[in-house]
Amino acid sequence: MFIKSNLVALALALTASATPLLEGVGTPITLEKRVGLSTSSGFLDHAKAAKQVVRDRNKHRRNLMNLKRNVGAEFMNKGAHIPPIANLTNSHHKRQSEQLTDYENDSYWAGSITIGSDKQSFLVDFDTGSSDLWVPSSKCKGSSCKSKKEYNAASSSTAAHKPGTFTIEYGDGSKVSGPVYTDTVTVAGVTAHNQYFSPVTSVSSYFADGEKDGVLGLAFPEISNLHQSPFLTTAKAQGAVKAGVFAFKLDASGSELYLGGTNPKLYKGAIEYHPVVGAGFWQIGGMEVENGDQVIASGAQAIVDSGTSIIYGPPASVAALYETIPESRVYDSANGLYEFPCAAVPADFGFSWGGKTWTIEPVNFILGRVGNMCVGAVAGVDLGLGDGVWLLGDSFMKNVYSVFSFDKKAVGFAQLKQ
Ligand SMILES: *[C@@H]1O[C@H](CO)[C@@H](O)[C@H](O)[C@H]1NC(C)=O
Ligand SMILES: *[C@@H]1O[C@H](CO)[C@@H](O)[C@H](O)[C@H]1NC(C)=O
Repeated sequence: MFIKSNLVALALALTASATPLLEGVGTPITLEKRVGLSTSSGFLDHAKAAKQVVRDRNKHRRNLMNLKRNVGAEFMNKGAHIPPIANLTNSHHKRQSEQLTDYENDSYWAGSITIGSDKQSFLVDFDTGSSDLWVPSSKCKGSSCKSKKEYNAASSSTAAHKPGTFTIEYGDGSKVSGPVYTDTVTVAGVTAHNQYFSPVTSVSSYFADGEKDGVLGLAFPEISNLHQSPFLTTAKAQGAVKAGVFAFKLDASGSELYLGGTNPKLYKGAIEYHPVVGAGFWQIGGMEVENGDQVIASGAQAIVDSGTSIIYGPPASVAALYETIPESRVYDSANGLYEFPCAAVPADFGFSWGGKTWTIEPVNFILGRVGNMCVGAVAGVDLGLGDGVWLLGDSFMKNVYSVFSFDKKAVGFAQLKQ
């Protein structure tokens, strides 16, 4: 209710100044590649992978806390619970010695945005698994911000300081926190006025392994930590974008986020849409998980999350999946990771929502090598998201053209054009 009335007020105040795009015409944003969890020679960077799992767990723990606070426990999925904060353990240190350490090509599915009347520019991670925008502040203390773009409220005539603070703890020793502001935010020509965000003054170790400056959340208001309208929801309410639709192509090159529609140059055939269920997330139900002819799980749910590298499933279902792969075994029980002989990588593992089965290319099923074994990109971790809920990150999204429609309240998939 709170969010809705806020939006109406914003829309009334601001429609006059918004510049609508033409119907059916969207804008593309070129994305850079996400940081990998393996080294350039394909060896798993176990320390980095473990850290990523802990961050993913705590990101969704925070989402669940936001959801409960914003709209109430009755909007949580059946079986959902807020798990204890996940901590980074040292259990993997022995295995870590097997890895090489030539980290390379650290980059992200990130693109540029501007904030403020003076168009301060930032490289942000576009995240369908969260709903807030944050970037470093010029008041940021500590070395983590040194190499980052910093937002300076004093140089933007449209900046307004708001009450409250913003905090996210990732459980790997990193934490971002800062004050709350509104300002003008532009993503590829689409402008949202008075957009809530946080210029963070503390980012601890969050940035240690990447070049991005911050995160722009593309999910629903119900999981907003700021308890405010996310960027695209604001832009739609203000008429800055005709269609409340965005779409991703994630690939080693030619990655793109398209705002206000889909880009027909990047996919072929019809888009297969599935209605969003539950609250807050880009979540769709009625999913079957398949490895070739074998059904691993049915009646499952999927949350599609561009801000997560890998795929997470309920531990029992993920164990059942690896049982279908000869000679597979647990690699890292704390982080739900499995290994298998690289030659046994499944060629027909995928997900179906009653239409086409969207399969994961073998190269996307492999997180990295450990000796002659390969670690899989599907991890068995209870994220607290609910019974039978899977989290499909980039290892899934790289195989499809994915469409997120606020208008249809649906997620769609189409075949990528090669
Ligand atoms: C890293 O990026 C450079 C330039 O794009 C490319 O030539 C090289 O092959 C990449 N290395 C790896 C290991 O992907
Ligand atoms: C992580 O550490 C905190 C603080 O010590 C503790 O409360 C929490 O239960 C731990 N999490 C797990 C999953 O063990």
